[in-house]
Amino acid sequence: MAGTVVRLAALADLHCTKTSQGAFQALFARIGESADILLLAGDLTDSGLPDEARVLAKEVASLRVPIAAVLGNHDLESAKSEDIAKILTDAGIALLDGDACELKGVGIAGVKGFGGGFGQRALGPWGEPIIKQFVREAVDEALKLEAALGRLRAQNPVVLLHYSPIAATVEGEPLEIYPFLGSSRLEEPIGRYPVSLVFHGHAHRGQLEGKTKLGVPVYNVSMPLLTRTFADRPPFRVFEVPVTQQTSGETAPAHSTPQRELVAARPRRRASDAIAS
Ligand SMILES: [Fe+2]
Ligand SMILES: [Fe+2]
Repeated sequence: MAGTVVRLAALADLHCTKTSQGAFQALFARIGESADILLLAGDLTDSGLPDEARVLAKEVASLRVPIAAVLGNHDLESAKSEDIAKILTDAGIALLDGDACELKGVGIAGVKGFGGGFGQRALGPWGEPIIKQFVREAVDEALKLEAALGRLRAQNPVVLLHYSPIAATVEGEPLEIYPFLGSSRLEEPIGRYPVSLVFHGHAHRGQLEGKTKLGVPVYNVSMPLLTRTFADRPPFRVFEVPVTQQTSGETAPAHSTPQRELVAARPRRRASDAIAS
């Protein structure tokens, strides 16, 4: 059994438009130099249009690292999410919607997630049918995440979401919209598996980092947030994830291994022009 380290890059909220041709080239080139795999945490397109997804597919074409992604609410705006999923899948992106995949030995469970709020004040399934339907959507997304985690064999998997599973990483957003930025229901399956890292986007004005109740690190990798916070480096984050390459018949140990963030050292070309929040 040999150990190795995979450099995992993560970002969200690209909001690619029909006029974004070339806007992400420098960013993806830097990611290609800095990382072995890339996770995209939703809002890949701005209005959920297939033409926007086609632009993004061209932008990532030169990137030689494998990509896993989830869709965000913007990707569903035009009711064309199936077309978008096909375009991005044809471009080689592993699009996760309650699914799991393994990239270079890193197990990834992904789902878009949904809103409903956090903690004791989270919306409950009571009263009008439409409220119950809203809550049902969040519960279903949490169940999809749990099923995806259950299918993974890789140890210490990574969870990829668009909506936040905790309140801490949406702080800074207007209090009134917290219930639309995430749901504590997504935190429950994360606590039932040995998850090493959680990534989400959606909260453009949130906080970079938080932890679940059980101490699992949660990172808000929304590109507008990263652009504002790190003026001297490209708007993505890179983490070293230890992986164990197993030979047949070996069983992965159940221990958790810490991750270390790599900081892009060189000055960056600002990518803020590419952001349409
Ligand atoms: Fe967004
Ligand atoms: Fe979003």
